[in-house]
Amino acid sequence: MRVTISLDELLGDEVRRDPYPFYARLHEAGEAVALRPADPHALVVHGYDAVNRVLRDPVFRVLGADYLDRVGVRWREHQVIRILQSSMLNAAEGDHLRVRHLFSQALTPRRVAALEPAIGRIADGLLDGLAADGADGRPVDFMARFALRLPSDVIGELLGVPEADREWFPSRVRAFDAVLEIGRRSMREVRAANVAAAELTAYFTDLVAARRARPRDDFVSALLRGLDAEPGRLTADELLANLIIMYNAGFRTTANLLGNGLVLLTERPDARDALRADPSLAASYVEEILRYEPPVHFAVRYAAADTEVAGLPVAAGRTVVVLTGAANRDPRRFPDPDRFDPSRTDNRHLAFSAGPHYCFGATLARAEGRLVLPRLLGRFPALAAEPGPRRALMLRGYDRLPVRLADRAPCQTNPIE
Ligand code: HEM
Repeated sequence: MRVTISLDELLGDEVRRDPYPFYARLHEAGEAVALRPADPHALVVHGYDAVNRVLRDPVFRVLGADYLDRVGVRWREHQVIRILQSSMLNAAEGDHLRVRHLFSQALTPRRVAALEPAIGRIADGLLDGLAADGADGRPVDFMARFALRLPSDVIGELLGVPEADREWFPSRVRAFDAVLEIGRRSMREVRAANVAAAELTAYFTDLVAARRARPRDDFVSALLRGLDAEPGRLTADELLANLIIMYNAGFRTTANLLGNGLVLLTERPDARDALRADPSLAASYVEEILRYEPPVHFAVRYAAADTEVAGLPVAAGRTVVVLTGAANRDPRRFPDPDRFDPSRTDNRHLAFSAGPHYCFGATLARAEGRLVLPRLLGRFPALAAEPGPRRALMLRGYDRLPVRLADRAPCQTNPIE
């Protein structure tokens, strides 16, 4: 049955507040639905198999420079868009392979594993700060004080950003991020994103120069060593754009994994207590949080030639909305999909996308979730969250997340014990 919806339904307030009832209705209609002719995209693809195929099928491409030029978007005047377009997120096939290969050589599983003690240290330091802020029972904003700082500090550690500089990043990265959400943005937001893009470019220009002059044991130095072995393989713009994108792609996403995960667990005391009792369960909790409440709900691709999805035609040049957030709740793929069940087996969700643009930082993000959640629950066993609404779909999470702590830090334990 051909079902047509309007993009306004998907982006309306009700769906933004809680998209899952809408996703369930989409699943009843099959694997994809048509959008109205007046909408900018041809289809919404929401079934697990169809989403998985679109993300992997070379006929569907990311909206790179060639696409934006063809549809007449004046993007070159915005530094923030120039950076996005020079990064692997939007690179065309051959360029994407080249850039991703060079960056992957520097982000080895060994480098991520070696980062784990630092992730623990950074988390403990931020938890100390949270404990101090909430010591008198006042609510503390978990996003501002912890979730948004941790991934920024961790990427800083990975890239070799000196500790003293790290507090500088979150506000810039947040301003840069504003252009990633679908829908219209104010000129003020776009201007702020361009300013942040310029500042981040200047920072990384200096950092790259410093590591070229005096290499260290960090990602940027490893990357530069790899580039020296293959001269001319990466332009200066590509190098800077991809360093900036690593900060941005791993920032709000990981913060939302932590915020969304924390709320899920505080709402489910049995699951929370089971994880606290056995931290080795953390890896499967992280997978289920990512399936159940993914920090990213969709991607957009365009068709490079006439094609179809689930029997619905897509003409060359048209775009499709790929709803990974809905695919993660497809009852044809996940039994009882609206149940949070960390003991699920075969939990191959699409929270990190699939195909060539599969998340470059997935191993790092998983390590952050696995190391941080048990620490957080161990430190604040009776933590209570007071979540407000979530509105964004693209990067889905809480802007603010007030929590009340019941700290069991060493200074508060019974001195007689
Ligand atoms: C829970 C945390 C994270 C989630 C849910 C997430 C999700 C995603 C998704 C869905 C994509 C693909 C977008 C598409 O298909 O169009 C992606 C790509 C990417 N992610 Fe992540 N991400 C996370 C953490 C990170 C981290 C920590 C890094 C830092 C290294 C990172 C770096 C990237 C990069 C560079 C890309 C572009 C890859 C490419 O286009 O080839 N991400 N991420």
